[in-house]
Amino acid sequence: MSELVSFEKQGSVGVITVNNPPVNALAQGVRQGLIEGLARGIDDPGVSAMVIIGGGRTFIAGADIREFGKPPQPPDLHSVLEKIESSPKPVVAAIHGTALGGGLEVCLACHYRVAVAAGQVGLPEVKLGLLPGAGGTQRLPRLIGAEAALKMIVSGDPVRAPRAKELGIVDEVVGEDLRAGAVAFAEKLVAEKKPLRKISAADDKLQAARQNPALFETFKKGIEREARGYLAPFKCIEAVQAAVTLPFAEGLKRERQLFQECMASPQSKGQIHAFFAEREATKIPDVPPGTPARKIERAAVIGAGTMGGGIAMNFANAGIPVTVVEMSQEALDRGLAVVKKNYAGTVEKGRLSQADMDKRMGLITGTLDRGAIREADIVIEAVFEEMAVKKDVFAALDKIAKPGAVLASNTSTLDIDQIASATSRPEAVIGTHFFSPANVMRLLELVRGARTAKETIATSSELSRRIGKVWVLAGNCDGFIGNRMLAPYLREAEFLVEEGATPQQVDKVIYDFGFAMGPFAMQDLAGLDVGWRIRKGKAAARRKDLRYSHVGDRLCEQGRFGQKTGSGWYRYEPGSRTPRPDPEVEALIAAAAKEGGITRRQVSDEEVLKRCLWALVNEGARILEEGIALRSSDIDVTYLYGYGFPRYRGGPMFYADQVGLKQVYGDVAAFHTQHGEPWTPAPLLERLAKEGKGFRDFSR
Ligand SMILES: NC(=O)c1ccc[n+]([C@@H]2O[C@H](COP(=O)([O-])OP(=O)(O)OC[C@H]3O[C@@H](n4cnc5c(N)ncnc54)[C@H](O)[C@@H]3O)[C@@H](O)[C@H]2O)c1
Repeated sequence: MSELVSFEKQGSVGVITVNNPPVNALAQGVRQGLIEGLARGIDDPGVSAMVIIGGGRTFIAGADIREFGKPPQPPDLHSVLEKIESSPKPVVAAIHGTALGGGLEVCLACHYRVAVAAGQVGLPEVKLGLLPGAGGTQRLPRLIGAEAALKMIVSGDPVRAPRAKELGIVDEVVGEDLRAGAVAFAEKLVAEKKPLRKISAADDKLQAARQNPALFETFKKGIEREARGYLAPFKCIEAVQAAVTLPFAEGLKRERQLFQECMASPQSKGQIHAFFAEREATKIPDVPPGTPARKIERAAVIGAGTMGGGIAMNFANAGIPVTVVEMSQEALDRGLAVVKKNYAGTVEKGRLSQADMDKRMGLITGTLDRGAIREADIVIEAVFEEMAVKKDVFAALDKIAKPGAVLASNTSTLDIDQIASATSRPEAVIGTHFFSPANVMRLLELVRGARTAKETIATSSELSRRIGKVWVLAGNCDGFIGNRMLAPYLREAEFLVEEGATPQQVDKVIYDFGFAMGPFAMQDLAGLDVGWRIRKGKAAARRKDLRYSHVGDRLCEQGRFGQKTGSGWYRYEPGSRTPRPDPEVEALIAAAAKEGGITRRQVSDEEVLKRCLWALVNEGARILEEGIALRSSDIDVTYLYGYGFPRYRGGPMFYADQVGLKQVYGDVAAFHTQHGEPWTPAPLLERLAKEGKGFRDFSR
């Protein structure tokens, strides 16, 4: 027998156990072992039924991702499933932990399924830009009907055993002792002479969809917004439709074809990259797992503005008591009212119970007394973006906070080392850069100062995990990873409109590329005043010999701060968030162009896309070379989770690698010739392009 699968007899039941820790992935040895285990059970006259179970903490949690993209090693999963389903003796899947992807497909080839209550089943392939390619799209609809199958396969979300029982995926939810429960279930099948239920031969559950073929179009319409730009969800729908319209064997062929289409598309490469990039980002070479971290039992937030309130919600959601300190009662009341309104909105949508809302609100205490932070294990400052104010706050925190507490700043651009210099404990100071709205956006950019201690990083990353964020570690510089790259991106967007594009053209190109929104709509949403204040602070240091677009400043001078004032780059009808082109803005742009001596021209969509994207990538290359980001995939994670970059394109650096750095460098060099210094190619981009390499090949 394969080392990864064992066979044992318990009475007249053959128990086939998969032992491939940590998640019993369906590696070649597991596939081989399953076939051998089945053969033993079938050949042994003393065996009347079999159970397939996972050793350790889970059933088979999916395919072996390490085998992706490599030549397939026999036996393939299809032949394993065929052997299971055609076994003359009943085979029962016994599920604990997670049965995902290929794991669930194994269960669906079994004649019956039992699970412990905490067990979960799902087909998450769509999240990697794929579809279940081993019969999942053909068997699941035959088991639970096309509509329910569509929901599971297209969302990729798992369901727990009790729900799986309701749906008909699981036949019985058994007690804690899974093996005993499964063996008893198998013995009962034999005693009661139950039939071998081959899902591939079942048909009755497909009738509803046959009578209502419009179901598929309706389902497609329902996901159009959310799945905009993605290929796999729509291929999943086609595959389920094939289950309804074709005989099983034909359906399997169609499924395989569709799977190959997904596998060959750049989208799955991008989504698989994103999957690994997110995991990779948590690996910090000099802060390995096991680095001592402080346990966070209480937290404090300074400032109850846009960010402070959202940050406090993160703590409350994770069950951590949090004190919010403000300057004035009015600001405090306003801040807490916003938090309450946010929770109430979630309750209204039915996504949070009133009791849970009360519990969370109960964990948040507002005060004007800074002394109240004394008990906090971490304090996050979210006051105005001004160095003097930040230093003043940190000097005060230093005097009050208990020894060992983490002192964090939510600054978006300011120098963490300067902030730390206001304290006697720079090792405890770190940047925790949340994104707006802080209770919704998944990214947390941790900013390491020159003297930030490893323990401070370990504590902050552990906190990030606890509050459900995806985090990356950035070095200390103006704008860190995300906002530093954003600056040239926004600069180019403004230059493009001065040269002849319109805000709506630029936004449409970026939106059609797959971003959640374009640069102008994004600024209107975030508030134009934020950037304006930062620009004013830096005005004295600005080089007068470089081109500068005044349009953004002019808008702010007119009080056009974006959605919140009803106008910005666009105008907004009262109560509406729909951006409408505004002739006043167009006049402003034309005037600025005239003033700058720019002859306006037709700007192509292609130029818009290249100038915006390569501005990100060129700055990303500098960030990588300087060590501000540890690896190019960390930059991708930052843009996927913090800036709405399309996941199916893998992130800006991955996308540039896919296009080829030779081409990217060629474009950047051409822009440099046309537009001068701001487009100086990053040395790393130039070098990698000339060496025929990609950002992925760069390591320090
Ligand atoms: N708004 C964003 O999109 C965003 C995103 C990421 C990071 N940030 C950063 O977060 C920080 C806060 O930004 P914001 O948008 O929440 O600002 P905001 O103006 O909405 O809120 C700041 C709050 O801090 C309070 N405050 C000021 N000084 C204080 C003090 N000494 N003690 C206690 N409270 C004080 C103010 O009363 C105000 O309520 C800034 O550093 C900003 O750069 C903002």
